[in-house]
Amino acid sequence: MFIIQELIHFYLLPILMALFFYINLIKWKRKRLNLPPGSAAGWPFVGDTFSYLKPHPATTIGQFMEQHVSRYGKIYRSNLFGEPTIVSADAELNRFILQNEGKVFECSYPKSIGGILGKWSMLVLVGEMHREMRMISLNFMSNVRLRSHLLPEVERHTLLVLRSWPESSPFSAQEEAKKFTFNLMAKNIMSMNPNEAETEKLRLEYITFMKGVISAPLNFPGTPYWKALKSRSNILKVIEQKMEERIRDKEEREEEEDLLGWALQHSNLSKEQILDLLLSLLFAGHETSSMALALAIFFLQASPEAVRQLRAEHGGIAQRRKERGETRLSWEDYRQMEFTQCVINETLRLGNVVRFVHRKVLRDVQYKGYDIPCGWKILPVFAAVHLDSAVYDQPHTFDPWRWQSTTTASTNNFMPYGGGPRLCAGSELAKLEMAVFLHYLVLSYRWELAESDEAFASPFVEFRRGLPIKVYSLHQDPSSEVGGD
Ligand code: HEM
Repeated sequence: MFIIQELIHFYLLPILMALFFYINLIKWKRKRLNLPPGSAAGWPFVGDTFSYLKPHPATTIGQFMEQHVSRYGKIYRSNLFGEPTIVSADAELNRFILQNEGKVFECSYPKSIGGILGKWSMLVLVGEMHREMRMISLNFMSNVRLRSHLLPEVERHTLLVLRSWPESSPFSAQEEAKKFTFNLMAKNIMSMNPNEAETEKLRLEYITFMKGVISAPLNFPGTPYWKALKSRSNILKVIEQKMEERIRDKEEREEEEDLLGWALQHSNLSKEQILDLLLSLLFAGHETSSMALALAIFFLQASPEAVRQLRAEHGGIAQRRKERGETRLSWEDYRQMEFTQCVINETLRLGNVVRFVHRKVLRDVQYKGYDIPCGWKILPVFAAVHLDSAVYDQPHTFDPWRWQSTTTASTNNFMPYGGGPRLCAGSELAKLEMAVFLHYLVLSYRWELAESDEAFASPFVEFRRGLPIKVYSLHQDPSSEVGGD
């Protein structure tokens, strides 16, 4: 029975979808639609998906995209993820797509993502339910909470990680960045403490889970996708147990200031909905900002001038804090990290942690003379705009100073966090995490690559060797020192 279901799901359905695609392509051509140029070539059923997702350096758009853009232009058609697809490397169209969410276009991730993140995950929800979940997430990461609660938490978790680094022995900076963001999210979502057995177990389970999110959705015993579904249910068991403890001990305990407590008290969500919300926030808030941090560490080791300028900025902030007799970062300190924000922007522009998002077309629309038919998939590719020489001068160079120019700083072509009604709900938290981490990193250590490495995208960004680095302490205690070369 299980095998039959799998055969239908993974073989019959794609065959039917491909047939539907070809029949409709003929119909669309007969209607004399002016479809964007492109081809429907590629493998049966999966089309060009493998070529499109073929791993390529994260600071490039990959061979497939390069060839297609140079042959067909910035808007082309293809057959991706088993569906007729329009791919957009056009900044204006990308903005148009994001801003018309729910009206002309709608968020539409492959079914396998929903299978693994859950049907109530924010990434797959649309309409009213999406708005409700989004409001809860925005409340949880509101400006007030960022200042009062999340800033000290981010600082505490940064110091915990930095203090554990061995001097002059290689370790994986990517792993450390992941540990930092995972522990931060686990604490803020469910009040789980770093280094406790339960948290470590959940973190390891989560690594298996992530391998499935980035694998082919083949649900057979032993495949990464199958293992990930098992991990999902183990992770959900932990979250569920936490939830039951809270409900059971409601009278005796003071409600924790975490997302679980908030969702239980202030929302009408069902247990299943809360579970998927928590898991999707863990996913959205963990993988992205950890990769952004790892990329910053990588780009900065090759840019001593940027590190020097960062150290001067953070040294000044730490000095003034010391003069005030304060030991911890304040919101005003954070607001002074101006060059740091340039480094963060440049890291996200060049590294493109989220390279594109999935949408579907809700109604026929014309754009720049092309017909974009209802029912097609459409992919706004942010990376292609961020690495376009017509938009950014020398786009492949790490140049944080470009963000000091008002023209670049005010551009609306920069979309690392998406845009419109689905703009990343955690963008302010992500910036805070990166800025605070960089503050203590540049004041505490000098670092170098222990082995050469490069980040690849397929489409999730990962360093091939985990970004092995060696660090050398500038001072003894990362929290007590001011910087300086
Ligand atoms: C550098 C780090 C980050 C990047 C580049 C990033 C990028 C993005 C992008 C591009 C989207 C839009 C997805 C779409 O439109 O389909 C998104 C959505 C989202 N992100 Fe982030 N993100 C980051 C960090 C975070 C953090 C720290 C959190 C906090 C938990 C978070 C929570 C979310 C949520 C909840 C959504 C769904 C929003 C919605 O559907 O309304 N993100 N993110």
